[in-house]
Amino acid sequence: MLPEYLSQVKKLVKDKMLKSISNNNKIEEAMAYSALADSKMIRAGLVFASSETNKNISKESIITLSSAVELMHTYSLIHDDLPCMDDDNLRRNQPSNHIQYGEANAVLAGDALQALAYEIIVNDNFLSSDDKVNAINLLSKACGKNGMVFGQYLDIENENNQSIDIKKLDDIHNLKTGKLIECAVMLGQIGSSLESESLNALRDFSSKIGLAFQITDDILDVTQIESILGKNKNSDAKNNKLTYIDIIGLGEAKLKANKLTDLALNSLNQSNINNIDKLIEMAKYLIGRES
Ligand code: IPE
Ligand code: IPE
Ligand code: MG
Ligand code: MG
Ligand code: MG
Repeated sequence: MLPEYLSQVKKLVKDKMLKSISNNNKIEEAMAYSALADSKMIRAGLVFASSETNKNISKESIITLSSAVELMHTYSLIHDDLPCMDDDNLRRNQPSNHIQYGEANAVLAGDALQALAYEIIVNDNFLSSDDKVNAINLLSKACGKNGMVFGQYLDIENENNQSIDIKKLDDIHNLKTGKLIECAVMLGQIGSSLESESLNALRDFSSKIGLAFQITDDILDVTQIESILGKNKNSDAKNNKLTYIDIIGLGEAKLKANKLTDLALNSLNQSNINNIDKLIEMAKYLIGRES
């Protein structure tokens, strides 16, 4: 069952993070505060689920790559909550990093989490040098100036822009959230012997569930209660960010997320990749999630 699978993934990733972040100084304390706080760890779950189709990767390296993507994600959330970004004071059911440690330390903890993501890949004991370069290439492209960071820039830049359309919103969501989700699935394929057609099917699957994930996040922002979200409700409206709910309405937004998930599952089912069960379960879990 997926909940058991995910809780096993969480345990392995948290153990790895605990070994990688000591408590020697304030920044390490701030890093651990956010990285080890309870979260869904769906990106780690996607690395694991994708790696079920890849015979050429060790368990230890799957844990390394899952931890790397979660460290990167945690950094993005710490920065996302800063007063100069979304200005949110609740994250993972506790005060946001900058509320607890101050803005300067939160910026630095985020920076250090990003560096640590690369460091643990470099120090993995089982990946070949080529595998490490490929993994770092995937992660840096997904997060950098043409990926998540650019998406975050567009997201902030378009606050108060009332004329934004669906196409533009798709672009922003794909960049700020979709890229790292796609990256998680492709990290599970490090060293993989799948042919390019199958890898393309995985890319198509992951980019579609990535967009559906952020649409669902926007839906939950207006429909879920704060104690279940574990983060501030109505953050988008507070920051005058136009979402799918504003443009096409709640019902259509839900339909769009469901449609994308169906299309993602079609891509996977039509491929000739074996052992896709966990990826299918993950896609279904993501669309039905409550937080
Ligand atoms: C929240 O991500 C930020 C988005 C990209 C939408 P998650 O919903 O995966 O948050 P955690 O990791 O479980 O806290
Ligand atoms: C965040 O999107 C995306 C990244 C952190 C890159 P949101 O701003 O909607 O995420 P939440 O709702 O604060 O988790
Ligand atoms: Mg944001
Ligand atoms: Mg936010
Ligand atoms: Mg949100």
